[in-house]
Amino acid sequence: MCSASSAEPDHAGAGWSARAPGRVNLIGEHVDYLGGPVLPAAVDRFTSVRGRPAEAWSVVSEVPGGLAYAVALGEELGAHPHALAVSSDVLPGSGLASSAALLVAVTAGLRPDLDGVEAALACQRAEHRATGVQVGVMDQFAAALGRRGHALLLDCGTLEHRPVPFPDELVIAVIDSGVRRSLADTPYNQRRREAESGMAKRRRHVDSEIARVYEFVAALEAARLDRLGELLRASHRSLRDDFEVSTPGVDALVEQAWAAPGCLGARIMGAGFGGSILALLEAGAEARFAAAMVGVAVLLCRTADGAFAR
Ligand code: GLA
Repeated sequence: MCSASSAEPDHAGAGWSARAPGRVNLIGEHVDYLGGPVLPAAVDRFTSVRGRPAEAWSVVSEVPGGLAYAVALGEELGAHPHALAVSSDVLPGSGLASSAALLVAVTAGLRPDLDGVEAALACQRAEHRATGVQVGVMDQFAAALGRRGHALLLDCGTLEHRPVPFPDELVIAVIDSGVRRSLADTPYNQRRREAESGMAKRRRHVDSEIARVYEFVAALEAARLDRLGELLRASHRSLRDDFEVSTPGVDALVEQAWAAPGCLGARIMGAGFGGSILALLEAGAEARFAAAMVGVAVLLCRTADGAFAR
């Protein structure tokens, strides 16, 4: 069922349906908008959209806020208005890149002919237009071009990308901190400006994180699982102390995960300021890990195909 991502005719008429996945980011946080490398993976949680031409844009969804994205995307793609019905198990604010999943799903429905790179770039521009948050291109790339069984190594400077096999011995766990936030209400743009202007602490995170991405890929390819865990822990410390995008609640959750059985490593994931943490587990340790994470819901994810993976 992972391939139902491209647009399919809707039997009721001139409509279509399409879906796109959420993503995790294994490593490479707050470096995409500076042209650095990132290593996200599309995961098996999806936003599904049905659309049909209409007089004006409209969105019916359990989740508020989709209309601004639809209108902005219509402008980017030069598409006529559509009535959209959205259902999703990519919760907004939970760190799985819900806006990218929505935008990429709608793009797959409106323009299934597009190349995945063009689709991702159009979605990034639509997000800028809809929210004013100057996000990088990682999330849209993962939702469009992620591959089942793989992570996606993307150089955000050149847009070169390649799938990196994700070993069966590893399990992806996502833990929602429960702190919901819209990126527009966070210092995301401020962090971007601070890093761009060369502020020492911020640059220290960026430079060390870029090095960690390449080391992580090498460790994945060499199946050095312990090294993966060390890199995740170092990434968290850097995001906490140098980039300052964590919160005390998230730090406590990450430390709880570090101490849990079967956990190789964990860190805050995505934009931060709440949202989710990522933990990598040894396969087979899922139940022991979940039992140790008292009072929190552990979401186990598998890698999935992006909406434009062909
Ligand atoms: C959000 C943005 C991404 C990226 C991450 C931080 O998810 O949408 O472009 O900047 O934050 O790595």
